[in-house]
This record gives sequence, C-alpha cells and structure tokens, in this order.
Amino acid sequence: MKRVALLISGGGSNMVRLVEDMQAGGYGLPVLVGSNDPQAGGLIKARDLGVPTYSVDHKPFGKDRAAFEAEMLRPLLAAEPDVVCLAGYMRVLTPAFVDHFKGRMLNIHPSLLPKYPGLHTHARALEAGDSEAGCSVHEVTAILDDGPILGQARVPVLAGDSADDLALRVLIQEHRLYPAVLRRFLSGERGRLDLLA
Ligand code: GRF
Repeated sequence: MKRVALLISGGGSNMVRLVEDMQAGGYGLPVLVGSNDPQAGGLIKARDLGVPTYSVDHKPFGKDRAAFEAEMLRPLLAAEPDVVCLAGYMRVLTPAFVDHFKGRMLNIHPSLLPKYPGLHTHARALEAGDSEAGCSVHEVTAILDDGPILGQARVPVLAGDSADDLALRVLIQEHRLYPAVLRRFLSGERGRLDLLA
C-alpha cells in the first residue's frame, strides 16, 4: 500500500477528504499529517481519524526558511512517504525541500492554473470578470504553483458572487477533485483528469 503524508496549515478540509477517501477506498495509507502551525484545526481532525501528526511552528524561525524546513523535513522523511500531498499548506517551499519528493509531491490550488498562481485567486477571478473559476491539482516543482497539472474542476461564476461565495463553491469541487486525482496518481496513471461539475 502506498504511504501518503499530508501537510496542512489550517482547517485541513482537503486533508480530511483525502484521508477518509484512502481509508474507505483502501488505495493508500495516510501515515502522517504535518503542519507549520501547532494550532491548525486540521491536526485534531487528523488525530480523530487515527493519523499520526506533528507540527513545527514556523514563526520562531523568522526568515530562516532553511532552518524551519530542516525541522519540518525530519518527521516527514522518517515516515518514508511514497507521496506527499500539500492540502491547504500555505508556506512556500524551497527547491531543496521539493527535491526530496521530486515527482511525488502534489498540491491543490484554488484556481484554473496557469491562471492566478499565488494568493487571492477568487478575488482576482472576480476582478477579471471571469465567467468560470475552479481548482487544480498539480505536481509540485521548484516554481510556485507551476508543475504539471494532474486535474482540474470548473465552477461557474455567478452574478453577485463575493470572493467567499466563489471560494465555497470551488472548495466543494476541491473535495471531489483531490481524492480522484490522488487515487489515479497512486495507481500510476499520469493522464490529466478534468471533472465535470
Ligand atoms: C483551500 O481553498 C485550498 O485550495 C487552499 O487552502 C484552502 C483551505 O484548504 N490551498 P483546507 O480547508 O485547509 O484544506
């Protein structure tokens, strides 16, 4: 069974769906959930799901990203994951960190990449007057939000949508897309999955 570690920064709703789907589908073993925030709500949810957790508070490290990542890496490497899923993980990773998991680290990003890498994706889509929005699961490379796209799901932008309205509509699709893409990725498939809403 492929071993999967997951990194979160907050509520971890994507992590919960991935863990639950692996446990229900038996296609992967969630071995560890880590966070850069010891207060992340997702850590409690992971423990409730029976998954070991750890956290390294990034704040005391200030600008010393390498020192923080060295601490973050230790338990992650010890867990010997086959795949690492970033799931609402909000720290930029250095190329050195990514290199440890080259070709086997995934991320979910709340936009139709390559549009809107980075933050505030929904506000930017609204600002641009886009008629649709969505989410992407991609392989993580040294360039932020830039790796090969493994799947996308689209939602309509509706008149009067706020960024929060759009975020909620996209999040529902994230929870469908990420488990479907992880299941395929673990089975060795590399084709791109486009979910119809
Ligand atoms: C989601 O919008 C996800 O796309 C982004 O972080 C947000 C919260 O994710 N990466 P989660 O609920 O912590 O999984």
